[in-house]
Amino acid sequence: MLTIHNIGRLVTMEPAVGREGSLGVIPKAAICCDGEQIAWVGPESDLPAEARTVTSIDAGGGVVLPGLVDSHTHLVHGGWRVGDFCLRARGRTYQEIAASGGGILSTVRATREASPEILLSEAAGRAVEALSLGTTTMEVKSGYGLDWPTERKILQVMQKLKTSQPVRIEPTFLGAHLVPEEYRADRSGYVRALCDEMIPAVAAEGLATCCDCFVEEGAFTPAEARTIAAAASRAGLVVRLHVDQFSDQGGGGLAAEVGAVSADHLDMISDAGIKAMARAGVIAGILPGAGFFVGHRQGPPVGKLVAAGVPIAIATDYNPGTSPTLDLFLCGTIAVTQMGLDPDMALLGITSIAARALGRGEAVGSLAVGKAADLIVLECDSEYFPLYRFGSTVMKMAVIHGEIAWERSS
Ligand code: NIG
Ligand code: FE
Repeated sequence: MLTIHNIGRLVTMEPAVGREGSLGVIPKAAICCDGEQIAWVGPESDLPAEARTVTSIDAGGGVVLPGLVDSHTHLVHGGWRVGDFCLRARGRTYQEIAASGGGILSTVRATREASPEILLSEAAGRAVEALSLGTTTMEVKSGYGLDWPTERKILQVMQKLKTSQPVRIEPTFLGAHLVPEEYRADRSGYVRALCDEMIPAVAAEGLATCCDCFVEEGAFTPAEARTIAAAASRAGLVVRLHVDQFSDQGGGGLAAEVGAVSADHLDMISDAGIKAMARAGVIAGILPGAGFFVGHRQGPPVGKLVAAGVPIAIATDYNPGTSPTLDLFLCGTIAVTQMGLDPDMALLGITSIAARALGRGEAVGSLAVGKAADLIVLECDSEYFPLYRFGSTVMKMAVIHGEIAWERSS
């Protein structure tokens, strides 16, 4: 049993009578973990006597939040794309760079060449970096292989990642990231390979629980995405989509139609798309790091999504091309200052709603009895401080599975 006491503000993300606001804050609180689960939360004055005698951590009057949930990353990749960054800075667009063989395809070449050992050690290093910034659960997409041997290599690296470092990993198959060069003259051949070979193999080998598709000019068409989503559903994989990033592809409506759990990016989503997502209960994944880094003038219409009642998850979209950051709080800050998202919604978006976007809402993303003992201890006296103090960190400790997984060295 592990007790954390002297918590200035325990942010449960579970609003209730006697707690503050939509984040369900308990001031002057304590929390007890029994093994891997939360056993008790409440005001410290009510802490049961037996919980006072066990191993106890003093939070120093700071803030405790649920461990952050990053619901969209491309963590496993070879190489970097500093050159793309400079080309964009000098006036080339993301799509122009992609069309001339840079962009995603250059990362595909580097990932095909990289050994599984290198991919694993680099991804594990990044997972620990994410943990040091508060992330305790992370979705990770494949998609830099675009042939079965490499996609499989990436997915197997993710399986090893689950046991080689403490962050919880949720793998997604993104073979439908782009049509690879060798299939350029035979797009339908690649879609067939995805649907008839790769997706069934992913499911049969238990390598991922979700399947994603990048719907965009230069990537996959809505019609191709329908075929891919149908194959994923047949194989028992949960569908998630990248839509409406650079152009309106009708992505919101498409996500609703194919039963996607989440639709991410949405910078160019139409009003009709927003309505369709609201009706079908699709969760919006906004990726502020990508818009910020690629230099989009227009971000997703957050005000309209909120007004329509679409739940909003915020993710880093960590990848070497459009968002090389693992800092979820920073993405929350950008959502607040550049997109007009309320700070409470930003904190929900990187915890409980992100957990729902991963289908893990019952287990992680909030602090309640019976849920996973995953939490972070922050050195500050306001839950908004980590959003405000952008580019810095107030992380003191991270607990995963009821055990200290990361601690700031003095
Ligand atoms: O989410 N949009 C597609 N995929 C990634 C970018 C990947 C890359 O450029 O390497 C994204 O932004
Ligand atoms: Fe992405």
